[in-house]
Amino acid sequence: MATENEKVLVGVIGGSGLYHLDNLTFVKTVNPDTPWGYPSSPITICSLPSGSLIAFLARHGPHHTFSPSTVPSRANIAALKSIGVRAILAFSAVGSLREEIAPGHFAIPTQIIDRTKGIRPASFFEGTTIVAHTAFGDPFSVKLVKWLEGRVEKVLQEEGRGVVLHKEKCIICMEGPQFSTRAESIMYRSWGGDLINMSVLPEAKLAREAELSYALVATATDYDSWRPHSEVVTAAEVFKTLQSNADTARHVAATILEELCAATLQGDLLSEEKGSMQFSIMPRSA
Ligand code: ADE
Repeated sequence: MATENEKVLVGVIGGSGLYHLDNLTFVKTVNPDTPWGYPSSPITICSLPSGSLIAFLARHGPHHTFSPSTVPSRANIAALKSIGVRAILAFSAVGSLREEIAPGHFAIPTQIIDRTKGIRPASFFEGTTIVAHTAFGDPFSVKLVKWLEGRVEKVLQEEGRGVVLHKEKCIICMEGPQFSTRAESIMYRSWGGDLINMSVLPEAKLAREAELSYALVATATDYDSWRPHSEVVTAAEVFKTLQSNADTARHVAATILEELCAATLQGDLLSEEKGSMQFSIMPRSA
C-alpha cells in the first residue's frame, strides 16, 4: 500500500465533465498556496493498486466555477509541481473542425494555434525582471504523446464502443466565453486547425516553463460552427456528449495510469523537458 511519503509523479487535470477519476483509493487532499494563489481545486492524491500515487486536479473547480478565461493556470501548474508531479495528463472537451472527427471521438493533438495571446497570464516570468523565451515549437511532450497514442488507442478499441482516436492534430485555443462565429470557424479550418477549445493554453505553456511533460487527451463534444447546413454549436450540444466522453476518459485513465506512473518513475518520458529552461533565460548584460 502507498504511504503518504511516496512520490506523486503523475498529475491528471480533468476538464469539463471530468471532476473525479475511477478505481482509485483516496489518500488525501492538498491545497498548496503558491505565489500565484490556490489551484482551481484542492488536489486529490489517490493510490493505484500497485501503491503508486497520482494527483487529480479539476481545471474548472470541483463545481465548475472557473470559466476557461479565469482558470488560475499558474497556480495549478505550480501547485502540481510543488508536490513533485513531473508528467501531466490533461483532458479537455473540444469542438471538431473536421468532418471525420465526430462528437464522441478522442484526439491527442501535437500542435496548437494560440488565440488567447496577450489576454491570459501565460508565463511564470511575467512581472519579474527575468526575460525567458521558452522553446514551444512542439507544444506537447513528444515522448509522452507517442507513449499515449498506442495505449489510448488500444483501450478505446478494446472498449468496443466505436470511439476513434485521432492523432497528429492541431488544436486552436480560442478566448471564450462565446463560441466562434461561422466565419471564424471556417477561418480556423483554413489555418489547419482540426480541433478547438478554450483551455489548453496557457496550461501547456506553463507546464513547459515548469519543465513538466504535458499531453492532452481531447474529447470531441460537437462540430464547431463551420458546417454550412448544420446548426451552430451551443452549450446544450456540448452537454449532450460531455457525460459519455467523461465516462470513457475515466476508463482510459483507469487503464493506463499504472503503466504511466511506472514509465514516469523510470524517467523514460521526462528527458525532453528536464533542464529545457536552462538556455531559455536571457543572460543579463553587464
Ligand atoms: N469546447 C467544446 N466545444 C467547443 C467549441 N466548439 N469551441 C470552443 N471550445 C469548445
